[in-house]
Amino acid sequence: MTNKKYFIGNWKMFGDFNSFKIIKKINQFCTNSKKYKVVLCVPNTLIHFFNKKLKFKNIYLGAQNCHHADTYGAYTGSVSAYMLKKTGAEYIILGHSENRQSGDTNSIIKKKIESSLKQKLNIIFCIGENLAERRNKKTLIVLRKQIKYCIEKKYNLNKIIIAYEPVWSIGTNKILKNKELEKIIRFIKKEYRDKFKTKSFPKVLYGGSVNQKNISQLSLVRELDGFLIGGASQSSKKFIDIIKNYYK
Ligand code: PGA
Repeated sequence: MTNKKYFIGNWKMFGDFNSFKIIKKINQFCTNSKKYKVVLCVPNTLIHFFNKKLKFKNIYLGAQNCHHADTYGAYTGSVSAYMLKKTGAEYIILGHSENRQSGDTNSIIKKKIESSLKQKLNIIFCIGENLAERRNKKTLIVLRKQIKYCIEKKYNLNKIIIAYEPVWSIGTNKILKNKELEKIIRFIKKEYRDKFKTKSFPKVLYGGSVNQKNISQLSLVRELDGFLIGGASQSSKKFIDIIKNYYK
């Protein structure tokens, strides 16, 4: 796995064909980047279109979720990892709290991870506690469980990046203090290495209200391997400013 920092955009339910101008600007900005890797996880309706339109690709495209079945099936409205791979997706977000809230359990997420690994997709696996769990000081227990029930040692762990996203921080402009964030990221890395007996620590990103202002403060958290950026990734200017300010 690379030592580059990850800047991953999660467009959520946003964008149409005209949004290619956003992708185009970000792609131009990323020319020859030796320091970081940019991935944009866009709606399924746009992956193939963007992929075809980008002549020189400095960025990677990804999806935001999938159905857990391996290929095809009677699942109205759903799309499998197999189908997403064929659109040109190279990454996939799984376990996002918005999907957990609408029914994705740890065991469903685990199946999604397995079907995505079969397609050799790179997985951005989201974990995080909600506000009640945080207030009850259950954060580390929740994170440990989410890792334990979704990942197995036998998986190709090089294909899995973890995104720590406290649910209460998503889209709220509320963000952890660096000290606490450092502690949690260290916990995740150690937990993962001890549990799966890996030689190195996993890549761990932070997500939740990351913007062009707070990125300077977040850049001081040395344990972090990058960021998962929601709202601010829908604007090329904000997204590019996040990268610029990170390296200032
Ligand atoms: P946000 O979303 O940056 O808008 O808080 C992050 C995410 O949901 O991945």
